[in-house]
Amino acid sequence: MDIRLLDRNDAPAYQALRLQALRESPDAFSASHEDEATRSIDEVAARIVPAADGSMCMFGIFESGALTGFVALVHPQRKKLRHGAELAGMYVAPALRRRGLGAVLLHAVIAHARSIDGVRQLGLGVNATNEAAKALYRSAGFVRWGVQPRALQIGNVFHDEEHLLLRLDVTG
Ligand SMILES: CC(C)(COP(=O)(O)OP(=O)(O)OC[C@H]1O[C@@H](n2cnc3c(N)ncnc32)[C@H](O)[C@@H]1OP(=O)(O)O)[C@@H](O)C(=O)NCCC(=O)NCCS
Repeated sequence: MDIRLLDRNDAPAYQALRLQALRESPDAFSASHEDEATRSIDEVAARIVPAADGSMCMFGIFESGALTGFVALVHPQRKKLRHGAELAGMYVAPALRRRGLGAVLLHAVIAHARSIDGVRQLGLGVNATNEAAKALYRSAGFVRWGVQPRALQIGNVFHDEEHLLLRLDVTG
């Protein structure tokens, strides 16, 4: 198993896995398959290459050389928001779940957030019914601070989103 930041050469593999994620777990992402299916490889590359200003990077996890999961870290650059970062778009391919890959991705993002000067907290949003992801985040110390009712509409169904936060500047 390898974990590293994705770069432009990973764009085809990322796009294939991302579209699989949007098809297989539509409730887990705010983007839809329809939103992303027509993106060119150049557009995808621009979205995964670490941003020059540090505002975004994407970790990928590989098994036997194949991309099997990913997660993004978003770091707003505006002065009043720079103390926070957001985790987004976490996914592990179904065949490789419950083997610790999600936890490896999560801990890589947390370590990266800790390494950014001034970042004191890491936030994320998760579908309120996503028990697997909530258990994973809880195991890393994230706590729920609120719920946005009807954050997503998928077809005729509304989904609430829980907002979780991990404070990086407190221990224990
Ligand atoms: C959520 C997800 C990333 C977890 O990935 P994973 O590689 O299976 O997670 P791990 O094997 O590292 O699990 C770590 C811990 O998370 C919790 N967990 C993971 N899957 C779980 C499940 N299905 N049910 C209950 N707890 C679960 C457990 O505490 C687990 O530890 P354990 O296996 O020792 O009990 C994966 O299920 C996934 O990609 N789901 C679809 C997309 C998604 O929901 N993304 C999150 C969007 S916010």
